[in-house]
Amino acid sequence: MQDIPFVVNQNQAIVFGTGVLDQLPQRVAKFGKRVLLCTGRSAKQRGLLDRTMKLLEGFEVVHFDHISPNPKAEEVAQALALMKTMDAPTDVVVAVGGGSIMDFAKAVAASYASQRPVTELFGVDTVDRALPVIAVPTTHGTGSEVTKYAIITHQGKKLAISDTKILPAVALIDPVLTYSMPAEVAVDTSLDALSHLTEAYFSALCNPVTEAFAEKGLAYMAPYVKTLNNLNEEGHYYLTLASMMGGIAINLSGSGLVHAMGYPFTSEFGVPHGRANALIMPALFKFNAEAVPHKYAKLSELLNSEDLSTLLKELNHLYGYDAELKHITVDEAKLQRWAEGVVANQRLMRSAPRKPTVEQVVALYKQVLALE
Ligand SMILES: [Fe+2]
Repeated sequence: MQDIPFVVNQNQAIVFGTGVLDQLPQRVAKFGKRVLLCTGRSAKQRGLLDRTMKLLEGFEVVHFDHISPNPKAEEVAQALALMKTMDAPTDVVVAVGGGSIMDFAKAVAASYASQRPVTELFGVDTVDRALPVIAVPTTHGTGSEVTKYAIITHQGKKLAISDTKILPAVALIDPVLTYSMPAEVAVDTSLDALSHLTEAYFSALCNPVTEAFAEKGLAYMAPYVKTLNNLNEEGHYYLTLASMMGGIAINLSGSGLVHAMGYPFTSEFGVPHGRANALIMPALFKFNAEAVPHKYAKLSELLNSEDLSTLLKELNHLYGYDAELKHITVDEAKLQRWAEGVVANQRLMRSAPRKPTVEQVVALYKQVLALE
């Protein structure tokens, strides 16, 4: 018997199912009248902005959509300035979009209610208070609708706020909203979800509840891993479930060094987050296997494969991700700087099942980049 105490902190309503977006007005009304609505710019072309605005008729809505794929601290400040133009305080933040939009909304909600610039909120348990957030995901990947994390780029670095106060009050998950995702985005985000399910399972902080979510999420995802660029509606539906479960899994037990190692690929070379993680996974999971071979074997089995890293390499090839590596140019000094950043990332090192040294992280990067 492994008698290790654990806490499950998932204090939110998770509303899942076809058509649940229509519940938005009554969900918003519970928090008040004045709404900050955050969306991506594509919501307009997709008709989603009009649909959401119609649902929010009768509320006082300020709309903000100047949000980069990797949202910036300056953009959070811009949204705060816009909120100040409302006649009275904002009651609730609604985020309709992918992970960036939801992360952004969580950061704004914290910065506004705490009356502190977002740059003071990076770290763990730093938030004084936050406005309630209603998160409506339109992709299946980040699971941000069910996590306490917001990743914001500041001075070229991806930095995290990690605080249960920014866990969205409501995750309104309508799988239909993901059906029209471009194939490339579906692959990138699904592989982010895969990285969450696997990293949380590997996590040193993994508990039986995390395991249950990770195993079930992987079971939903496994039949589709080789056809993520050609999903039918059923595929999108199950990937949306898997993504939510991956989000809960990392919310409970953290992601890990796949994320830490992938961040510079994104911030310095613009590699999409899920793709960066996909490139890192094969080498890092082999490294993890030395410490927790039973978990490696179980994850291989859950994905119906002989060997987890071999499968993940195949996926990188199948989706053309290995071609991305050509654009990533590094020298020894840069690798050293990246590796030092990874080892200094206490939040993600804490959950690593095997804690590497700086030299080992450099060697892992070299394997990923096929430099040795
Ligand atoms: Fe992620």
